[in-house]
Amino acid sequence: MDIFTLISEDHGYIQDLLEQICLINPRNHEYKIASFMKLREAVIAHNEAEDGTLYIALNAYPATKETAKLLYNEHEEINAAMSALSNAALTPHEWRKKFSQFRHMLLAHIANEENKVFTEAHHVISPEMAQELRISMEEMKYIKQELFHKAS
Ligand SMILES: [Fe+2]
Ligand SMILES: [Fe+2]
Repeated sequence: MDIFTLISEDHGYIQDLLEQICLINPRNHEYKIASFMKLREAVIAHNEAEDGTLYIALNAYPATKETAKLLYNEHEEINAAMSALSNAALTPHEWRKKFSQFRHMLLAHIANEENKVFTEAHHVISPEMAQELRISMEEMKYIKQELFHKAS
C-alpha cells in the first residue's frame, strides 16, 4: 500500500463519520456532539500525519510548493472550524449550521486532495517514496491516536 491508498482509506472513514453525524436526530444533540468529537480526533490525526509526510514532500519540490502552502492553509481553516464547533455555548441550531459549513469545507478539501493533489503528487513522488511515506504516515497517526487515548 502507498500513501495515496492510505489517505483515500482515511478519507472514506472520515466521510462515513460525517454522514453518521448528519443522520443523528437533531433531538439527540448530545450524541451528535459526542460523535463529532470522535470525528475531530480522526481528522486531527489524519491532517497532522498528512502535514508531516505528503505535504512536506510536496513542499520540497518547486512544482508543488504552492499547492503544499494552500493545503496547509486549508488544514488551518479546518482546525479553526472544528474549534468553533467545540464551543459548548453554541445553541443546537447554531451548531448544526456551523457543522453544515464545516462538512462542505472538509468534503471539498478531500475531493481536491484525491483529484488535483494526487495527480500533481504523482509527478514528483516516486512509487518507492510513496511506500515510505505511507509507513511514516501510519506511525504519525498511531502516535497521535495514542496521545488522544492517554488524554481521555
Ligand atoms: Fe488534508
Ligand atoms: Fe486528507
